[in-house]
Amino acid sequence: MNVLISIDPDKRVSKIDERIYSSFIEHMGRAVYTGVYEPGHPLADKHGFRGDVEALIRPLELSSIRYPGGNFLSGYRWLDGVGPKESRPVRPDLAWSALEPNQVGVDEFLQWCERIGVSAMLGVNLGTGTPQSACDLLEYVNGSLPTAFADLRRQNGRAAPYGVKLWCLGNEMDGPWQICAKTAEEYGRIACETAKMMKWLDPSIELVACGSSSRSIPTFGAWERTVLKHCYPYVDYLSLHQYYQNDGDLPSFLARSDEMDGFIREVAEICREAKAGQNGDHDIYLSFDEWNVWYHFQKECAEPPKWTVARPIEEETYDLADALVVGCMLNTLIRNADTVKIACLAQLVNVIAPIMTEPGGRAWVQTVYYPFLYASRYGRGTSLRVCTESPVYDCDAGKGIPLVDCAAVLSEDETGATLFLVNRSLTDAQPCRLTFAGETDLRVDDWVSLRAQAADAVDTADETPVRPETVSGAATSGGEADFTIPPLSWNMLRFVFPSRGKKRPS
Ligand code: AHR
Repeated sequence: MNVLISIDPDKRVSKIDERIYSSFIEHMGRAVYTGVYEPGHPLADKHGFRGDVEALIRPLELSSIRYPGGNFLSGYRWLDGVGPKESRPVRPDLAWSALEPNQVGVDEFLQWCERIGVSAMLGVNLGTGTPQSACDLLEYVNGSLPTAFADLRRQNGRAAPYGVKLWCLGNEMDGPWQICAKTAEEYGRIACETAKMMKWLDPSIELVACGSSSRSIPTFGAWERTVLKHCYPYVDYLSLHQYYQNDGDLPSFLARSDEMDGFIREVAEICREAKAGQNGDHDIYLSFDEWNVWYHFQKECAEPPKWTVARPIEEETYDLADALVVGCMLNTLIRNADTVKIACLAQLVNVIAPIMTEPGGRAWVQTVYYPFLYASRYGRGTSLRVCTESPVYDCDAGKGIPLVDCAAVLSEDETGATLFLVNRSLTDAQPCRLTFAGETDLRVDDWVSLRAQAADAVDTADETPVRPETVSGAATSGGEADFTIPPLSWNMLRFVFPSRGKKRPS
């Protein structure tokens, strides 16, 4: 059976918010120290940030980077990380049993973001922190008045406010692993008061309240409702976090994005109910600010010694199957562009990351880098409704899972469209027929495919068996295209409509 994909450029989900192409750097493992920042490295810039890592980050065209955590955030004292580096204290980081030397703090991070052209999404500590410490940080970062913390920033060499727009009210406060975890009532109250004060101080900011740390936590649903009962008037987004693991059942692993879709729909519905229940004047959108594949539950690595700086923890090696799941998760985010406005691939460097480094040595990219790279570069514009008639399969993760997962994006100038497709079949190529309603002259501009000899093929610093390849062989006729995608592959097909191009100059 052919997979039938029908797209109508007039059937639109929503404009895609570019912030869905964001990532995350936490003070965790080697994400910061020997990841992005390593002053002694031969390729470090004058600020101590690694040029080779920057060269791998830049092509991702990230919208924002979330910082500084993560679980780390809930014990973080931001004042430790500003001022002369030699006077900054070393602290025990209780989240990751590590030492935090505070050689990178908000100034270093925000100035690095400016240099690489990425916005920052900052978190305030609502574990050990208070509404006041959150406002102090906001004043330090964005303050323009002659006030104490804004003056401290000036004294530390930064005259202009950074103008950080997006702020997270804590991190995963529902999780028992969190430093100073809270009940939904406790978190709802402190998040509400913090949000209120922060917006009084800087009305230009947008705030993300913590949703559940995953869909499987028993308080999921009740947590969201209670938090929004308290915070609705003051917040703009509710967070979702989800990591998927491969426990050896590959068909189920490849189907996990189906569950992610359900998660998004449930939280979006809760947000709509909160608005309706409070006769609200604004929508609450979703910030999927941690998502990825993560196997740590089943790994048997020797635990690195505790209480060291840059403890090498959670350094996942990703394979082709992981890249396909990441591709399906990206498709899910695109298909839900009407509700998901922010999403952060967690994380960016060394810790569950697309980019890896050796201390003092090389930097390279992993398989999961590629679907994100292409989605971020070519998945901007308008998400289109896709009607896919695909063969399906049943597995423990669900019944009727489509073998082909697809998302479609109409380009900003509406003279082309990009399709992202994953073939979940372990064995069979899938012949596909695309019909693009109303088009008479569809042309294939580019077809890039990611596949390998085996689902567990990995890229390392030495070998790269999983690399995107340019493919040919798609046939077009009028508004239709025929192409066949290989088993276990991720694909991006870019189409142009020459006739539209003539009608609508870009
Ligand atoms: O991204 C790694 C960790 O996963 C984060 O610190 C935490 O928020 C989540 O549990």
